[in-house]
Amino acid sequence: MGRMITIKALKYNPNSKVSKAHFAKYELEETPGMTLFIALSKIREEMDHDLSFDFVCRAGICGSCGMMINGVPKLACRTLTKDYKDGVIQLMPMPAFKLIKDLSVNTGEWMEGMSKRVESWIHTNEEIDFTKLERPIEPDVAQEVFEIDRCVECGICVAACGTKLMRPNFVGAVGLNRVARFYADPQDNRTDEDYYELVGDDDGVFGCMSLLACEDNCPKHLPLQSKIAYMRRKLVALR
Ligand code: SF4
Ligand code: FES
Repeated sequence: MGRMITIKALKYNPNSKVSKAHFAKYELEETPGMTLFIALSKIREEMDHDLSFDFVCRAGICGSCGMMINGVPKLACRTLTKDYKDGVIQLMPMPAFKLIKDLSVNTGEWMEGMSKRVESWIHTNEEIDFTKLERPIEPDVAQEVFEIDRCVECGICVAACGTKLMRPNFVGAVGLNRVARFYADPQDNRTDEDYYELVGDDDGVFGCMSLLACEDNCPKHLPLQSKIAYMRRKLVALR
């Protein structure tokens, strides 16, 4: 028999007039290799059908299961219960995003706003001819763009960010990483001045206080701080 663990999950429905925020406590037996996805699914199946949380891929790919786990934002499907030695795990929804219910937040709406804000698409002056092959990119440049593009939009860097708490309009490490992705892409013809217009302020690249929590917690281990520092160095000359 495995050890008994306790999971305390914040429950609250912002759309209900009678709902009051409270922690619900669940006790269950830990099974080998148990992730929080498995634990929460068991709780919902056997103890509380009303508990809301988000999962899609269960493999750290879709980015939908971010939540505060003992105060730290993490992907629940990649978090093993055995790593919590005292067997007590407290779950809360990620801050900075609109609460849907309990542990479920709307990261999609925030990410859509961020994508529009940083104009997250290729800006080119060239006429696109769909009958021609794409212009080749040097392999090392393509690799760099690919590496930055591994972001799964989980929102963990936003939930972890101290700057975001102080500056609600801060575009976050995910937004600045996105800017760095297009900056590195030779197909994007935006100039330094264009990027300065976009993120050359305290809600952008000059607002980051370099607290490093984004990079410390990013489940994809993206080099967020060096990308922010690089963009800041490029744009500071235009101040
Ligand atoms: S940069 Fe990392 S932590 Fe932030 S949204 Fe992308 S994958 Fe998640
Ligand atoms: S369920 Fe997809 S990342 Fe966790």
